[in-house]
Amino acid sequence: MTVFFKTAETLTAGAKTLPGYYYRSADLFQAEIERIFYRRWLCVGREAQIPEPGDYFLQQVGPENIIIVRDQQGRVRAYYNVCRHRGSRMCTTEAGRFPKAIQCPYHAWTYGLDGRLIGAPHMAEVRDFDKADYPLHPVATASWEGFILINLAEQPEPFEHAYAPLLGKFAGWRLPELQTVHQISYDVQANWKLLFQNYSECYHCPPVHPELSKLSHYTSGRNDLIEGPFLGGFMDIDHEGGSLSMSGRACAAPIAGISQENLQRVYYYTLFPNMFLTLHPEYVTAHLLWPQSYDRTLNSCSWFFHPEAMKRPDFRPDEAVDFWDMINREDWHVSELTQLGVSSKAYGPSPYSQQESLLAAFDREVLRALEHDLG
Ligand code: FES
Ligand SMILES: [Fe+2]
Repeated sequence: MTVFFKTAETLTAGAKTLPGYYYRSADLFQAEIERIFYRRWLCVGREAQIPEPGDYFLQQVGPENIIIVRDQQGRVRAYYNVCRHRGSRMCTTEAGRFPKAIQCPYHAWTYGLDGRLIGAPHMAEVRDFDKADYPLHPVATASWEGFILINLAEQPEPFEHAYAPLLGKFAGWRLPELQTVHQISYDVQANWKLLFQNYSECYHCPPVHPELSKLSHYTSGRNDLIEGPFLGGFMDIDHEGGSLSMSGRACAAPIAGISQENLQRVYYYTLFPNMFLTLHPEYVTAHLLWPQSYDRTLNSCSWFFHPEAMKRPDFRPDEAVDFWDMINREDWHVSELTQLGVSSKAYGPSPYSQQESLLAAFDREVLRALEHDLG
């Protein structure tokens, strides 16, 4: 306890909230897209979304549209959705299966699932034209815990280096085996950073989340990742056999492999810059965030359970879905109120409490990524 507060005190000493410019500037938002969302590893979904060769989905990243597809060898690949001929967007259906190739609807240039240009009508007549010179522009991909990540940088930081603090960290939850049971998309009228900040503290839990506060005490948090791109820790579940659900009881059998101590904890992590991961004894939720503008963020929340638990009569996923849908909406509401407030000329930086040490750390990561002065 003492150690935690000393740490929090050290980390928040003198720390203040970001100036309003960071929440209401189209120029700053553009800089974030270029320096953060085009450079960091971004989670786009689950491997299980594209089980077969040719299966694909599209992901918008700022103004870029990316095709994520499984190739003939079973590898996940990603490409800019841009034809190498005259630049047409090729695919507009959000998800589906390509019949062995990706064909541009404009002049029918055709690409293999490995990105090679394999058909280009009449281009053989063009002197020195070589199809090998015009593959789809690739985007780096990585697989982690059943999730697919992409990186739009020309020379991405190697994934294993970027994700070193998290490799193996969540093994107890058997994430690659978990199945998506439900997904809800939210359209939140608030800056993406406000959602990160909101997720990173429970100072707001007593007034905003009365139902959550009955199950998990708002000061029970202990953080183990306190600086850098990954931040978070755990909170206690007050009652034995409890969890975060509408009834306050576990809504499925615990994931096999969860330690005794973790049967009564919920872990919360932010994965900069677009993911929140919440790990309960019997299920996991993940939020993916997609900034649309400085005051609008799309957020998709997924609920994952283990298939063994799903076969049992005590499997009641609605209890988890309804609970977090309620909490999410409460969080979006206060985030939207904050967006309105920080857009005012009256708003300015204000001191963080010791319960907000992760927000100060998140802000530092944003400023580092933007190459702005940390002072
Ligand atoms: S723009 Fe794609 S084939 Fe012409
Ligand atoms: Fe909240």
